[in-house]
Amino acid sequence: MKLIPAAPGRADTFGESRTKTYDVAIIGGFGHVGLPLAVSLAFRGKSVYALDIDPVRAESLSAGLMPFKEDGCEARLRDALGAERLEFGLDPHCVTRSDVAVIVVGTPVDRHLNPEFEPLQAMLESYLPYFKKGQLVVLRSTVYPGTTDHLHRWLEERGVEVELAFCPERIAEGKAIEELETLPQIVSAYTDEGRRRCRELFESLGCEVVEVTPIEAELAKLFSNVWRYTIFATANQFFMIANDHGADFYDIHHAMTYKYPRLSGMPRPGFAAGPCLFKDAMQLAAFNNNRFYLGHAAMLVNEGLPNYLVDRLKARFDLTKLTVGVLGMTFKADSDDKRDSLSYKLRKILAFESRRVLCSDVYLDEPDFVPTARLVNESDVIILATPHREYRELKIPAGKIVVDIWNAWGGGCRI
Ligand SMILES: NC(=O)c1ccc[n+]([C@@H]2O[C@H](COP(=O)([O-])OP(=O)(O)OC[C@H]3O[C@@H](n4cnc5c(N)ncnc54)[C@H](O)[C@@H]3O)[C@@H](O)[C@H]2O)c1
Repeated sequence: MKLIPAAPGRADTFGESRTKTYDVAIIGGFGHVGLPLAVSLAFRGKSVYALDIDPVRAESLSAGLMPFKEDGCEARLRDALGAERLEFGLDPHCVTRSDVAVIVVGTPVDRHLNPEFEPLQAMLESYLPYFKKGQLVVLRSTVYPGTTDHLHRWLEERGVEVELAFCPERIAEGKAIEELETLPQIVSAYTDEGRRRCRELFESLGCEVVEVTPIEAELAKLFSNVWRYTIFATANQFFMIANDHGADFYDIHHAMTYKYPRLSGMPRPGFAAGPCLFKDAMQLAAFNNNRFYLGHAAMLVNEGLPNYLVDRLKARFDLTKLTVGVLGMTFKADSDDKRDSLSYKLRKILAFESRRVLCSDVYLDEPDFVPTARLVNESDVIILATPHREYRELKIPAGKIVVDIWNAWGGGCRI
């Protein structure tokens, strides 16, 4: 995520009036979290100003065009624009003219895998001149535990009298519009009035609300993501153990889960990647003084899966004489988001180990990618890295070496 402090006083506008007031301003409102929230709140009747830093995106969003894939969002975006309940722009003064400011910038981890608090604080600082007394300021991104308390003290020391709240986003990309209206919202604040206003904001989406303290809300969000990261790692480790012993994990998975409800939620192996899970496991590890062995082990397993696949291929074939095709480059299926996708790590390893690597993705148009058909025809080895639905019916010619880690083609995976 690109974090750029706001340019104070900048007012590139796309049609908003200088006096119009809003129910909600969303800072970071053009992104994967901010945009669906802005659209959903506007669709449900709030007047919303989505504030960001990219003039090109402001223009295309104002014309009703989605910058990324999000099921059902574009229709609602156009509906909200048509009803004049949603505006996109770069004018920070709109924060002052809003009852609620939602901030969608979180805590990344640095190259040492330590949390970086500075971007969020710097961003908050750049908007200080625009917050107004009594305003509800909602932190929405995943943060390092204790961040909300820290910022609460920091704002008080500066005499900024806002109601600070932390209400974590829990959607899965691609399902945001549906999930914003169905998933219970976890809300936390420091006063009864703050909690009441958070409840009012999120109940307007039609969903239930669960109230906790800020530290509980921060941990609830991190624990949720890290729980998923560790169970994905468990499936990946099981896959490697089975494969190392000549067994097909998918046969085992079927045997384990068939009419056995206690394991009905057991995940299958595959790349566990994207901008959240790895980062959040490392945040939790840092929070626990780096004594989160399970989290670190999960990271080693998940991040090691591309290396494992290439190692196994190398043990069986002379990769230096083979062309390898990596099919699917986004971080998860049916998405156009490539942030922190392990497909790119796989490509990097293969660029070193194989004769040639070809990459393709139905949702991405990159200059060095090739069409699906060419990848299938020219590759000796085909690795289905991201199982987009468009690949399900693909016919792979006989004689190709196929690595279907997701078992999308139903033939299992033994390499
Ligand atoms: N993507 C998800 O599915 C998801 C789910 C839950 C939580 N989160 C958390 O939400 C946070 C944001 O993730 P995202 O996927 O929306 O990122 P994103 O990069 O898609 O969106 C962030 C937006 O903030 C904007 N921005 C940066 N600096 C700004 C500034 N000074 N003023 C205004 N706007 C600014 C960026 O231009 C961008 O549009 C992350 O911390 C992540 O942990 C993400």
